[in-house]
Amino acid sequence: YVIGVDLGTSAVKTLLVGQDGVVRAEATREYPLYHDKAGWSEQDPEDWVVGTIDALRDLLASSGANPEDVEGVSFSGQMHGLVLLDAQSKPVRRAILWNDTRTTEQCREIERTLGDKLLSVTRNPALEGFTLPKILWVKQHEPDSFARAESFVLPKDYVRLRLTGEKHMDLSDAAGTLMLDVAGREWSADVLDAFALTSGFCPPLVEAGAYVGELTAEAALATGLRQQTKVFAGGADNACGAIGAGILSPGLTLCSIGTSGVVLTYEEDASADYRGKVHFFNHGKAGAFYAMGVTLAAGYSLSWFRNAFAKGETYDAMLQGAELIPAGANGLLFTPYIVGERTPHADAQIRGSFVGVDGSHTRTHFARAVMEGITFSLNESIELFRAAGKQVDQVVSIGGGAKNPLWLQMQADIFKADVVALENEQGPGLGAAMLAAVGCGWFPSLDACGATFVKHARVYRPNEEASARYGQLFEIYRQVYAQTADLNR
Ligand code: XUL
Repeated sequence: YVIGVDLGTSAVKTLLVGQDGVVRAEATREYPLYHDKAGWSEQDPEDWVVGTIDALRDLLASSGANPEDVEGVSFSGQMHGLVLLDAQSKPVRRAILWNDTRTTEQCREIERTLGDKLLSVTRNPALEGFTLPKILWVKQHEPDSFARAESFVLPKDYVRLRLTGEKHMDLSDAAGTLMLDVAGREWSADVLDAFALTSGFCPPLVEAGAYVGELTAEAALATGLRQQTKVFAGGADNACGAIGAGILSPGLTLCSIGTSGVVLTYEEDASADYRGKVHFFNHGKAGAFYAMGVTLAAGYSLSWFRNAFAKGETYDAMLQGAELIPAGANGLLFTPYIVGERTPHADAQIRGSFVGVDGSHTRTHFARAVMEGITFSLNESIELFRAAGKQVDQVVSIGGGAKNPLWLQMQADIFKADVVALENEQGPGLGAAMLAAVGCGWFPSLDACGATFVKHARVYRPNEEASARYGQLFEIYRQVYAQTADLNR
């Protein structure tokens, strides 16, 4: 067996996977988030370590697997979270997470200081969620903590450090710090110098699939795993999600609709230039990259709608009859900006809207319009990829949006691409397990592993008539942003 550990924002999820790619057992542990002030989002790194150890022990116990049969373990992690470490590698304060928005001022400072280098070197815009703005915030607001900080790591790197005693960061996660030369695959001396950070502050870089060591005797005892269990670095959750969905070669795109939504496309090299309109990060597959657009309130828009207007009902009950309403919800249009937006409008202030309400519309029309609006938002990312010359013909769909046949067909119609649903989809944890499976020598490459581990279930093809109707509506959808931008300012 191998184990994939997915260190998420609300919980850590562990998967025990056999050589056939079948998940034999899973175990999860939740941990708290701290929102001490508006816009703040923090976690205690110790909670991640305790949660991971407990989940691993549970995983072994519930599966009945012999620890002798567990060959390797690897990780997927929530991106961007800042864990500052002292000289003994102990956290100097709680971790500041990806969804913490306190750093707007630091983002402007980064833009001013780096100028054109920001995009040419880091390949990304300065966003509140990224790591460098958090470092500058601590430096400015908590100089005592900063003075004790000798280095930093990202969330899953801290857990791995505690399990192995070894400090590393993998390229796919380092790409989200704004300190990496993404195309050059090394820490950027330009960025470090500009903010007076030393290279010793940044951990050694490795590939996501790199072997980094064994468990410590203490970690082996605590988890029940053998000390000789091989540990592989692992990657960012979006990179591991891509691996776990088989997004490993040109022409493949991923659409993941969870609380937020992500559209991600495989990039063989760093030549594509999206001018910072989408994220551009190193992949977990060595040498490759991916571009990614984010819809902040994807599944969240539908869960908001259910809570507000169909409380106590299941999604199936709420959506009953939505498939009988024609594409376009009889003229009702929704924009899903209910907590702001990221792609293509990096705008925390914008809010959503329903447009075109008719006296004949029922709640079911509204529910359908919400699903369509979320999908339009994701399509804006796809259109950005296409505008840069990318071919998007096949989209693998995962997450909550892949559980509903109506939504899968809607994605095919709106994206104007074939949409593939997976059998037994497992998310980033499976990508982490695949990194371990390749590392252990079960397969010569991630691609070969994907052929066994990732199974396509069904392909949804665009319906011409619905596609044409959505095409017209999408043009109107695009205009709503500018027309409503001043509502909340
Ligand atoms: C990516 C991002 C999120 C986190 C979630 O830029 O902020 O998707 O990776 O864990």
